[in-house]
Amino acid sequence: MSKKTILLTGGSRSGKSKRALALGNEHAGKKYFIATAETLDQEMKDRVQRHKDERGPEWITLEEPLDPTKTMLKIAPGSNDVVLLDCLTLWLSNMLMQEMDDTGILSKVKTLIETCKKVPFTVIVITNEIGAGIVPGDPLSRKFRDLAGEINQEFATGFDEVVHMVSGIPVTIKAAEKLPQESEQKSEPHEFSKEKKKGLYEAIYKRRDMRHFLPDPVDPTVLGRILDAAHHAGSVGFMQPWNFIVIDDPEIKQTMAKNFSSANADAEKNYSGLRKELYQSLKLEGITDSPINLVVTCDKTRNGPHVLGRNTMPETDVFSACCAVQNLWLAARAEGIAVGWVSIIDPERLKQDLGLPENIEIVAYLCVGHTQSFYKKPMLESAGWGKRLALKNLVYYNRWKGTSESYTLNFPD
Ligand SMILES: Cc1cc2nc3c(=O)[nH]c(=O)nc-3n(C[C@H](O)[C@H](O)[C@H](O)COP(=O)(O)O)c2cc1C
Repeated sequence: MSKKTILLTGGSRSGKSKRALALGNEHAGKKYFIATAETLDQEMKDRVQRHKDERGPEWITLEEPLDPTKTMLKIAPGSNDVVLLDCLTLWLSNMLMQEMDDTGILSKVKTLIETCKKVPFTVIVITNEIGAGIVPGDPLSRKFRDLAGEINQEFATGFDEVVHMVSGIPVTIKAAEKLPQESEQKSEPHEFSKEKKKGLYEAIYKRRDMRHFLPDPVDPTVLGRILDAAHHAGSVGFMQPWNFIVIDDPEIKQTMAKNFSSANADAEKNYSGLRKELYQSLKLEGITDSPINLVVTCDKTRNGPHVLGRNTMPETDVFSACCAVQNLWLAARAEGIAVGWVSIIDPERLKQDLGLPENIEIVAYLCVGHTQSFYKKPMLESAGWGKRLALKNLVYYNRWKGTSESYTLNFPD
């Protein structure tokens, strides 16, 4: 997100603060709230506390009735941070109460605008549209109204974006100029915003290996997006060793189902007693139920005999194709599409059935389609086959089984 200066204006209770906080919360960094309100009586104290509570603990409140420029320069946040100044009209009223003259006030205003433009972080300033009513009956109120109008104009001219809040609806009356793509990328913060991170982790935690499918077709555009996500996986030496074979032919699926059945009959022989019974009760594929089957392959000869990074670990070609499968799985989850991986299959027979050349290795046979509902837990966990291991027992420090006093990780619950 690139740095911006935003002026939010509107009548009282038009939704300015709510909008300003929502804009501020889009920033991943620290959030500063400069409050110009003076808490002179109990009602005002209560009101300020209520607003603080509403903002939440991630907002750092700084009370500054007279010199917001000084406060802004003092905190010197980073480029991912945001400063919200609430509000210009209270600041003006504080300056008038100090009996500052118009020239002094306007000079402070200009300095603040210049500062907001110079600092590396986004600044959101709230003000009020107070000039729309009748002409006030006393000179001080008229002076206040006129100066407020003038100050608003100065900020609106100097700031990138101006939004007029009307009955809770933001109306953009001045839009920030779109920066060229390249410079926008340069100022993009490294960390994703809270919302974006939430989406990514949700796809990771809610991804499931699925074996129950609905017959509904998969939109080819959606599947195209999913495969494009797969194609953006990391690969050794940028080898991109994958191909994707999309199967929708029921006859081919039947052939694959037969392959699974015989491979599964062989696999069963590894178990006995209750474990065998449990194994036999598991649904381990959705080949004919799912509308699409996908074969992910690895071309071991792509880019010639030597590929950067594969000299000592030639198997990194297959690792790369696995990274593509994981991207595919996550993108599919985000699209609401279920994916199930079937490895209980004879790869040589599969290669023959699909006419694969010798140098092409099978990496994954996937069933793809819509589902009634995604499993909440891995199906093998719900069935009592296995449990998720404790991550802390799988992480070592500095050497195999090593522990550390100086650096230990904190894991989410
Ligand atoms: C390489 C690989 C092969 C797999 N093969 C099968 C399979 O043949 N049949 C099956 O039902 N699940 C298969 N799975 C799915 C796993 O059982 C599943 O990922 C695991 O139980 C965890 O569940 P989750 O993916 O829902 O988190 C495979 C997964 C991977 C990564």
